Amino acid sequence: MVAIAENVQHRLTIQTVEIAPNTTAIRSLDWDRDRFDIEFGLQNGTTYNSYLIRGEQTVLIDTSHQKFRQLYLDTLKSLINPKIIDYIIVSHTEPDHSGLVEDVLQLAPRATVLASKIALQFLESLVHDPFSKRIVKSGDRINIGKGHEIEFVSAPNLHWPDTIFSYDRKTETLFTCDAFGMHFCDNRTFDEDLEAIEADFRFYYDCLMGPNARSLLNAMKRMSELGKINMIANGHGPILYHHLEILTECYQVWSQRQAKTETTVGLFYVSEYGYGQQIATAIAEGIQKTGVGVEVIDISTAELQEIQELAGRAKGVVIGMPPSTDITAQAGISSLLSVVKNKQLIGLFESYGGDDEPIDTLRRKFIDLGVKEAFSAIRIKETPSENTFHHCQEAGIDLGQLVMRDCGESSTKGNRNIKQIKSLDVNMEKALGRISNGLYIVTTQKGNIKSAMLASWVAQASFQPLGFTIAVAKDRAIDSLMQVGDCFVLNVLEEGNYQELKKHFLKRLHPGTDRFAGVKFQTAKNGSPILTDALAYMECEVEKSMECSDHCILYCSVQEGRVSKADALTAVRHRKVGNYY
Ligand code: FEO
Repeated sequence: MVAIAENVQHRLTIQTVEIAPNTTAIRSLDWDRDRFDIEFGLQNGTTYNSYLIRGEQTVLIDTSHQKFRQLYLDTLKSLINPKIIDYIIVSHTEPDHSGLVEDVLQLAPRATVLASKIALQFLESLVHDPFSKRIVKSGDRINIGKGHEIEFVSAPNLHWPDTIFSYDRKTETLFTCDAFGMHFCDNRTFDEDLEAIEADFRFYYDCLMGPNARSLLNAMKRMSELGKINMIANGHGPILYHHLEILTECYQVWSQRQAKTETTVGLFYVSEYGYGQQIATAIAEGIQKTGVGVEVIDISTAELQEIQELAGRAKGVVIGMPPSTDITAQAGISSLLSVVKNKQLIGLFESYGGDDEPIDTLRRKFIDLGVKEAFSAIRIKETPSENTFHHCQEAGIDLGQLVMRDCGESSTKGNRNIKQIKSLDVNMEKALGRISNGLYIVTTQKGNIKSAMLASWVAQASFQPLGFTIAVAKDRAIDSLMQVGDCFVLNVLEEGNYQELKKHFLKRLHPGTDRFAGVKFQTAKNGSPILTDALAYMECEVEKSMECSDHCILYCSVQEGRVSKADALTAVRHRKVGNYY
């Protein structure tokens, strides 16, 4: 039976469905969510899936996003008396799944939380009252009666280091949280319509899972040892059942292909110290934008062997400074130092926990080993703001681009190697180079984050409404501020009078530096900066976005605009060949 509860105002609905014997899916449907993980634009909303298994004991797997608090808790109470919940399995601690763990614990005070070691450490800082807990790892099981024996599988890095899968032997259902999910909101509980979901399934894989293909293959190997899997009850989107075989096969094939050429950065930090988790997330997002994978290890809990294996294999190493009192983390860093090679790239950041190990001592050791710094050490002297995280993301992009360059690849997803680039038809490149464009600076502000980008691939696209397209490379940090519905200003540069602005906005900045310092600007009605020295400006909104290989084409409408000098001309960029800007 399917039941639906709803909050019409925000298009939030909840669906409960019996998906297997004694097993209920509680799916929170977030119809209008258009953004995930800052840069991940969504076309079809998303869902947060939680599951209830009722043996002789009762298990709740994951919860929901806080925006569903009332709806979710009411739904849960309509299904059971929460007091009888014996276990809450936390597959992963991102707030879209664990946002209501504290609320559920208040209703179910005798429940024991089962999660990985890292997840429990993180939860302790989220949940204010003490709670019963148990660490679980691969091979651990709980028997909850009526034939339901649940086995756990460690699945680190999918999507954070804390992830576990849970397998119910009776119903042959594997609960995977983020893995095998998709951001696709629909009343259909299952994956019966393959055509409708396949693009979102692939996009989600590319954004969230692909960068950690090796971790996925490891998790899938462990999955194959569990026995028959009849259903994958994921954390986002329709549950995999009708097309389980083909969809898991896709993961296998994509991951094998990806792992062969995988270029990885190892990110080592202490997740529960200072702002380590948020800073690491921002840097990792930046790295992933360039198509480079990131594998994340918590150095306060990982095995030394695991740290060395990743540090030895990764093309780049990022370290969040641990507290000087954390002996395990210090040992982790020493073991890492023993395997880094001088061809690797390094990036260091402070976690701002109040007792950070001094950054310069470690930095000096890496430099002495001949390791190159990909970005200046990120030193955080005050509570990090949104702007700090944005700059950390830019630092991640710098690192990813350098890694790609060192690997002889262009820094975009689906990239070509040097040999392929060289073999391109030179005449064709020259012909393409005859397409000329103007020079522009896109400026935008969202919350406290201001950003800017030099742009030349801009072309008018419609009269009614007045609109144009702009191509934005996928590895630009600004693309997180230019999703459908976002506003910005297009500043037109003036022929013979643009070098200063161009130089300024091409400059690489240290994290935390104000991109607009020293530049004259006013604030547009839509909140974005208008550059005083530009020839003209337009206030715009992104209406549509289309993925095109290494760029996104944005169709934008123009709300208003002005020209400062009636007779001046737009600066134009003439190129020799068409394979660079
Ligand atoms: Fe769906 Fe990583 O949270």
